[in-house]
Amino acid sequence: MKSIEFNKPFIIDSDKKYIDKVFKKNKYADGFFQKECEYFIKTKIKTNFVALTQNCTSALEIAMILINLKKNDEVIMPSYTFTSTANAVLLRGAKPVFADINLKDANLNIDSVKKKINKKTKAIIVVHYGGNSCDMKEFIKIKKKYNLFLIEDCAHSFNGKYKNKYLGTIGDFGTFSFHETKNLVGGQCGALCVNNLKFSRRAKILLDKGTDRSLITNKKKYYSWKDIGSEYRSAELPAALLYSQFKKLEKIQKIRKAVWEQYFNSFNKKNSKNFKILEFDKTNKSSYHIFALVFKSLKMRDKFILFMKKRNIFCYFHYFPLHKSSYGIRFKRTSMINTEKLYNGLVRLPIYPSIKYSEIKSIVKQVLIFDKIS
Ligand SMILES: Cc1ncc(COP(=O)(O)O)c(C=O)c1O
Repeated sequence: MKSIEFNKPFIIDSDKKYIDKVFKKNKYADGFFQKECEYFIKTKIKTNFVALTQNCTSALEIAMILINLKKNDEVIMPSYTFTSTANAVLLRGAKPVFADINLKDANLNIDSVKKKINKKTKAIIVVHYGGNSCDMKEFIKIKKKYNLFLIEDCAHSFNGKYKNKYLGTIGDFGTFSFHETKNLVGGQCGALCVNNLKFSRRAKILLDKGTDRSLITNKKKYYSWKDIGSEYRSAELPAALLYSQFKKLEKIQKIRKAVWEQYFNSFNKKNSKNFKILEFDKTNKSSYHIFALVFKSLKMRDKFILFMKKRNIFCYFHYFPLHKSSYGIRFKRTSMINTEKLYNGLVRLPIYPSIKYSEIKSIVKQVLIFDKIS
């Protein structure tokens, strides 16, 4: 049986055309496509300031500098996330505080977050897991009540919505990933959305190695060093690839949705004794980044991954909880029930635009066989 990969970036000939344009223009930084991508994101998600960054990791790091995060500050976040969310906080000398997630959707649990708030808390980072929105009404409420910054880690969720608002535009900042594993691919690329415009001037300086180059309009004036910063901006080649992907956004999302729905319709009413699927509030819009099954035990999860692998179908678990990692254990020594349950049970199924209908059918068939014999 031909193997079914877990993920394949959707790169076709038209994408190469845009890369060629970069070579024709012979300009590789501060370029045309960087600006075009920023304009596209800004108009798509309806916000005022967007910067194309090297990745979501840099966008998170900029957000943490902008809120002036310092030693003794605390930032609440899920442990069920990628290291970048926590590293951005640690790089400012502050402390990541892990809160538990909901079993139903793998998003931050509001009650667990409330229990962690104290005088040192400066911000909350929510992750919209798999492209499905957190309960933003509740997070906005506690942001206002305790005067906290709210950052949306939208690594999975470009094009997703909470009610009628695009994810990334609801908190103070939104951070996006266009890594090759994500729905839209710039190779390695990302974006920062600044919704609180008082930060946009400083953001421009941080993005450009601490200089005010992008703020100088008078060509006779020299730019100079104004602040800390780094080269956080995307280069032109990834931007060109991403721009080409944006041109296909509707197509890519339509296919992802169709694949996601095929899985959903096959497993939703199954009432399996062995696995569940994550819930999703239909009044929001998903970005359809992940479709996951949640098995009842680690043993069964691993048995399933192996069962599929033997049939040349590649499925993976997700997020080793940060508080259980050898580095993260120093920040939280007690267990987090839902985070650990989800990590133990969760398996992601292949979902990407070039997957064939016959391949989805065969994945569904094998899941059902596994369920029957287990
Ligand atoms: C929740 C989350 N945040 C941040 C990142 C980092 O994204 P990037 O690779 O674009 O830096 C990832 C990566 O997958 C992620 O899953």
